[in-house]
This record gives sequence, C-alpha cells and structure tokens, in this order.
Amino acid sequence: MQDMADRMPRFETLSIEVEGELGFLTLNRPERLNAMSATLLDELVEAAHWFDRHLEVRVVVVRGAGRAFCAGADIKGASATGSPSAPPPGSVSWQERREAGQRGLRMANAIEGMRAVTIAQLHGYAVGGGFLLAVSCDLRVAADDVVFFIPEVELGIPLTWGGVPRLVRELGPALTKELVMTCRRFGAEEAKSAGFLNRVVPADRLEAEARALAAAVLAMPAVPVVITKDQVNAAAEAMVPARTGYLEGDVLLGASADEAAQEARRRYAAKTFGKQTPP
Ligand code: COA
Repeated sequence: MQDMADRMPRFETLSIEVEGELGFLTLNRPERLNAMSATLLDELVEAAHWFDRHLEVRVVVVRGAGRAFCAGADIKGASATGSPSAPPPGSVSWQERREAGQRGLRMANAIEGMRAVTIAQLHGYAVGGGFLLAVSCDLRVAADDVVFFIPEVELGIPLTWGGVPRLVRELGPALTKELVMTCRRFGAEEAKSAGFLNRVVPADRLEAEARALAAAVLAMPAVPVVITKDQVNAAAEAMVPARTGYLEGDVLLGASADEAAQEARRRYAAKTFGKQTPP
C-alpha cells in the first residue's frame, strides 16, 4: 500500500485515492461547484487511464467535493471546454475551438471505457456535463435531494459530448427529448423511476450506500464482473452507438455561430449568474 501511495499522481482539479481494491475519483473545484474547466476534463481522462493501469483497483467511486457533484461545463472561465463561454470566433483558430469542443466527448468515452466498475455518488447538483459524467458511470447512487437539469438548449446549443445517445440508452427517446428540450429540473425519484439510478438514499447515508454497493461488487470474483461490464457496454453500444460521435466539436461550433444562440447564452448567463456574466 505504501508503494501505491508513493505512486499516486497529483492533479490540479481532482484527487484520487485508493483503499485496497476500492478507488475514489473526487472532482475538486468546490468553489465552482466542480464546474468542468478544460483542465478538469483533461484530468478526468488522465485519471481514468491511471486507474486502467492499476488492475488491483476494481471499483471506483466518482464523486464531487463540496456541496455539489458537478455544475457542468465551466461557463464562466474562458477555458476551452467548448462551452458557450469559449473565446469568440477570431480570437483563436477554428481548429483550436473544435479541439475544445471534443474534450467533453473524450472525457465521457474515457470514463465509460474504464476497466474498473464506476459508481457515481450524486449529491447537490448534477447539471449538463456533470449529468453526462454520471451517465458515463456504470452504477449510480444519489441523495434524495439531488437536483438534475440539462441546460444546454436554454444556453443556445444542442447537447453534445456524446450525451444524446447515452441518454437515449438510459432514459429512452421520449424522456431524453423532454429533458433536453425543456431543460426542466428533475429529482432523484423521477430519475430512479426512469431507471437512471440504482439507489436513492437520504443525503447523510450517501457515502455509506455507495461504499455498500462497491462492497457488493467487490465481494464477487473479479473476472466475471469485468466481463459483465464489457458485455453490457458492448450490448448498449450495439443498441445505440455513442463512441463514434466524432463530430461533436463541429456541431457545437456550428450551433454557437447562430445569433439567436448567442442571445440565448447572454440571457441564460444573466439569469444564472447576474452581473458576473461572461462577456
Ligand atoms: N461554471 C462556472 N462557475 C459556476 C458554474 C458553472 N457551470 N456553476 C456554478 N458556478 C459558480 C458560481 O458562479 C458561484 O461562484 P461565485 O461564488 O464566485 O459567485 C459558485 O459556483 C456557486 O454557485 P451558485 O450559483 O452561487 O450556487 P447556487 O446553489 O445558487 O446554484 C446552480 C447552483 C448549479 C443551480 C447554479 O450555480 C447554476 O445554475 N450553475 C450553472 C449550471 C450550468 O448551466 N452549467 C452548464 C451546463 S452545460
């Protein structure tokens, strides 16, 4: 174990810990409700690959520090997340902006493709890209007061980051359309009845319940568990392919050029953050 501790990598926007066969991946920008900056998206990919290299870690709990799981793409910083606050056309090259738009897709693919079984531990808010991070995990446990919403359309852009096919798989086409088109908030009970959540528990039991679910998986022999994950992921991918959406950055850029989209973004930012809106 000491050997493992010595080899633990350090990240700027998240942390990873290991307790025997159980790992923890904790988003760590609590002052921003763990909003996904470009760095956070890149570090999620790096952390996923780090866990993939450590066969001894069989289950990873994905969680957020502070009062929320994740408030989605960072729409305040001018970071290259492909979010609507990314730099305006002309200030950086089209290729750089496209690249930024692909980051979220890479993150979702990396998390979904992890060898370890992943459990999303959801509390506070799971919004937009944060909801998609949860969708990319294998199992989900939520506090009963968690709030979900997917605000991209209100922000003037379509949902990208490989989100639509994954939502169709998890929630079905009609509910996906409603939640993405209306951006309305929904809670744990609705998400559970739609089949999105494995467990809903009082907030003070959330961590214990995530650990209990992890322990139940860890109690089973390693190889059939890993094969089951691969089998289910292969079947889901055959039903609705999500990993081949290589145009997400282009879709995002094309839609962001629409003047109505830019106006929607300004309206949304003013409504959400008041005076602290991005330009
Ligand atoms: N990007 C950047 N910063 C964010 C953020 C985001 N997506 N979400 C929250 N923050 C910041 C806030 O600006 C605030 O910073 P400040 O203390 O410097 O003012 C801090 O995180 C706390 O957020 P706040 O809005 O004060 O918390 P709240 O409890 O009142 O509301 C939310 C929580 C999640 C409802 C609200 O923050 C929100 O709607 N955020 C935007 C979600 C979003 O649209 N994400 C994009 C998805 S594509």
